[in-house]
Amino acid sequence: RRTRAEAALKDVFADDFWIGAAVNPLTIRTQEELLTYHFNSLTAENEMKFASLQPEEGAYSFDAADQLVAFARRHGMAMRGHTLVWHNQSTGWLFEDGDGNPVDKVTLLGRIKSHIHTVVGRYKDDIYAWDVVNEVIADEGDCLLRRSKWLDIVGPDFIARTFEYAHEADPNALLFYNDYNESHPGKRDKIYTLVKLLLEQGVPIHGIGLQAHWNLFDPSLDDIRAAIEKYASLGLQLQLTELDVSMFRFDDKRTDLADPTEEMLEQQAERYGAIFKLLQEYRGVISSVTFWGAADDYTWLDDFPVRGRKNWPFLFDGQHHPKPAFDRVVELA
Ligand code: XIL
Repeated sequence: RRTRAEAALKDVFADDFWIGAAVNPLTIRTQEELLTYHFNSLTAENEMKFASLQPEEGAYSFDAADQLVAFARRHGMAMRGHTLVWHNQSTGWLFEDGDGNPVDKVTLLGRIKSHIHTVVGRYKDDIYAWDVVNEVIADEGDCLLRRSKWLDIVGPDFIARTFEYAHEADPNALLFYNDYNESHPGKRDKIYTLVKLLLEQGVPIHGIGLQAHWNLFDPSLDDIRAAIEKYASLGLQLQLTELDVSMFRFDDKRTDLADPTEEMLEQQAERYGAIFKLLQEYRGVISSVTFWGAADDYTWLDDFPVRGRKNWPFLFDGQHHPKPAFDRVVELA
C-alpha cells in the first residue's frame, strides 16, 4: 500500500472530533486507501435504512451492512448507524396489513420496535451512535412536523417511542435526532423546539445531527454559528453527519461543466477553511464531523438535485488527491 504524503485528517483533528465518511460496499473497495488513511469513523450511506434491512416483514438482509461494519472493525474505525425512522427509503409493507389497508397504531409501533431491537441489538458492539429519527421537521409553514404515515397512524408520539425502543435495545448507544436545512433560522427553531419537548418528556436523546448539506454560498457562517449555539444551549452534543460543500446553489440547474474551474476550487477552499475554523471553536460541543462520501469520484450530488450533473463537494479529487480545500483546512487547523 502506497503511503500518502499529506497529513491525515484524523490526526489533524484528533483533539477536536472524529472525522467520518459515508461509505457503501463499492467505495470501501475503490476508496479503501483514502478512507483508512484519513478517516476514523464511518456511516453506511444506504445499507442500514429500513428498506435495505427489512424489505419484507421479518426477512432481514444484513449482508451489505455487515460488510461495512466488518470493514470499520478491521480498521479500528468508529461507526455511526443511519437511520431507524425516515419517510424515505422505507417500505410499503410496514404501514399496511395483508389487504393493503393501513395498520393501526399498535401494529405499527410493534413493527418498528421489533425492527429497532433486531438492528440496534445486532450492531451494539460496533455502532456507538444512531441517527434514530431522520428529517421529521416540516420545511415550510407553521407546522412542526412533516406529514407522514408515521404521523397519520401513530400521531406525534412516534418520535418519543422510537427513541425509547433504541435506548432499550442498546442503553450505551448515543441517540441522535438528524435533519437538513438545520442552519436555516426557521427550521433551526423548529428542530430546537422538537428536541426541547423530547427532553422535557424525559425521552432518551443525546445529540443533534446537523446533516450539513451545504454549498459554496449557503448557509452563511453566521447562520451556521447561530444554529450551533442554539442547539448546544440544550446541553446536548452535536455532530455534523452528512457534510458536503456543493459547487452549486440549490436552485442552480447548470449542467454544462465537465470540471470545476480554478476559481470554484479556490472558493471552495475558502469556504471549507472558514467552516472548519468555526467548527474547531466548538470542539467541546461537536464530537464528530462526517462527510457524505470521501472523494469527488463518488457523491450522491452527481444525481441530486440535478440528475446526472457532476459535482465536486469533497476535500479530495476524483483521483483521491488533496484539493486546495484540503490544504486550506489543514493549514488553518
Ligand atoms: C442519500 C444517499 O446518499 C443516496 O445514495 C440515496 O439515493 C438517497 O439518500 N439525507 C440523508 C441521507 O439522511 O440518508 C441521504 O442519503 C441524503 C440526504
